[in-house]
Amino acid sequence: MTTPNPNLDSIRAVQWQGDHLRLLDQRLLPAEERWIECRDAQQVTQAIRDLAVRGAPAIGIAAAWGVAMAAQQKVDLDPVLSTLRAARPTAVNLMWALDRMKKRIASGADAPGLVREAQAIQDEDLAANRRMGELGASLIAAHSGVLTHCNTGSLATAGYGTALGVIRAGVAGGRIDQVYAGETRPWQQGARLTMWELVRDGIPAKLIADSAASHLMKSGAVQWVIVGADRIAANGDTANKIGTYQLAIAAKYHGVKFMVVAPSSTVDMATGTGEDIEIELRDATELLSTAGQRTVVDGAQAWNPVFDVTPAELIDAIVTERGVIERPNSIAMQAMFGW
Ligand code: MRU
Repeated sequence: MTTPNPNLDSIRAVQWQGDHLRLLDQRLLPAEERWIECRDAQQVTQAIRDLAVRGAPAIGIAAAWGVAMAAQQKVDLDPVLSTLRAARPTAVNLMWALDRMKKRIASGADAPGLVREAQAIQDEDLAANRRMGELGASLIAAHSGVLTHCNTGSLATAGYGTALGVIRAGVAGGRIDQVYAGETRPWQQGARLTMWELVRDGIPAKLIADSAASHLMKSGAVQWVIVGADRIAANGDTANKIGTYQLAIAAKYHGVKFMVVAPSSTVDMATGTGEDIEIELRDATELLSTAGQRTVVDGAQAWNPVFDVTPAELIDAIVTERGVIERPNSIAMQAMFGW
């Protein structure tokens, strides 16, 4: 086993520059590390819509900086708040961050106050990820193999990552010997982004086709599936990247444990069950072409929901910075998050 370098969690994809926001363009990775300079809230909104910045926590953090920047520019904040809120529908971190900024605005905060609030949102996310890393890793037996889906690392957060944070902590603690990452079609967050982070950190990782997951589980090579979340309902049902639900079904069938890792900013106690979560439908071209190259016959149609919902009963543990909920249900969620 190679000795991963725990200090190599160096990626920070969302960087405030004092008067504008710098974003690492995640559409171009790993081939190119290009930064986008967002100089107003509209450019931040577009970057969220186009997935130049993506991942629930990172979307919320970027939006908070969009509001702070708009305040510095003395523009009317109400249209800014509603435009950012409409950028993408499923990840509740976006609405959570905007509600927090709105509350500060209502309490009379000026532009420097809103900059401090956005910074606090970013700093708290990093601290939460480190805490969840410890909590989640402690559930994993030594020398385990794990499978993850999508990208939940430093690129998708303020740093360190949620599910990928548990994986970083698990590898550093000798609990995880091998990581498998699903490519996560059609946008390939696993193949392009997760593998990029893991290889940079020297973490032993193998890419698999999404359709190879059940076969991998049957082989006994993995003991846990570890994923992130975009919205966790009051009963524990969890929305995450499309393909997560079928991983949970296969895990249950093969006796593989299923862990969801997400900060409390992803918990939406106002949404009763997974049935109430809006699932984003994106353009069919994302499915009909790869890297901008059309790969399917002209005239073909496609259906491209980019998230799905895993029912609570298929989840063994929800790990948040406030603690772990084993076998989540409404009562357990209420106990930890109240409402
Ligand atoms: O469409 P994306 O790339 O924004 O989807 C991201 C995911 O589904 C992640 O698993 C989730 O946002 C958690 S990121 C820490």
